[in-house]
Amino acid sequence: PAAPIITIDGPSASGKTSVARLVAQRLGIPYISSGLLYRAVALMCLLENVTAEEIEHRLGKYRLELHPTPEANRVLLNGKDVTESLHNLEVDAVVSAVAKRPGVRAYVNAVLRELPGPFVIDGRDMGSTVFPEAKYKFYLTASPEVRASRRVPERDAAYETVLAEILRRDQADATQSAPAKDALLLDTSHLDLDGVVQAVLGHLTERA
Ligand code: C5P
Repeated sequence: PAAPIITIDGPSASGKTSVARLVAQRLGIPYISSGLLYRAVALMCLLENVTAEEIEHRLGKYRLELHPTPEANRVLLNGKDVTESLHNLEVDAVVSAVAKRPGVRAYVNAVLRELPGPFVIDGRDMGSTVFPEAKYKFYLTASPEVRASRRVPERDAAYETVLAEILRRDQADATQSAPAKDALLLDTSHLDLDGVVQAVLGHLTERA
């Protein structure tokens, strides 16, 4: 198929980024993690020591770029690579408030819509809002407990802390996280990463 966009949405720690990366590798196309851009705006708040509401009015100070490479996405803020500063509990704590601001969503979506296809992209509202025309849409789910145990090794924090953070973020993200009506829902609670990737690839083959 010509330059398809494949969207993979789901709640935090549902495995969507790992799945998107592996599916993209198998197809030989870039993957994009849209959450990185919200994380970059959260980092702006931490750097400037301002609230989500205040950063909405300072977005013009920042040039945000996302560069997909075969292994990972690099995020540049005013030309500086900040990728390594985007996954920690400090950013986790402010990112949902940032992502609620309409001005922030418009800013991030404008960056995303400039990216040339084809690609596999993960997020919350990629299939429902940002790329409604995408040819293939998936929505991954898993219980909060399963998601917490998957995330503990990435956060260097106790299971209870990570579970609480996931439950809090589920609530905070609920409004922008409804699955697209035409998305395929995949419950990954009882699948390992490879199982989810196989399910996605199988569906793509069936629908091609
Ligand atoms: O996917 P990830 O956990 O990195 O996303 C971080 C945060 O960014 C989410 O908790 C959510 O608040 C926000 N987000 C969003 N819409 C997206 C992607 C992420 O609101 N498409």
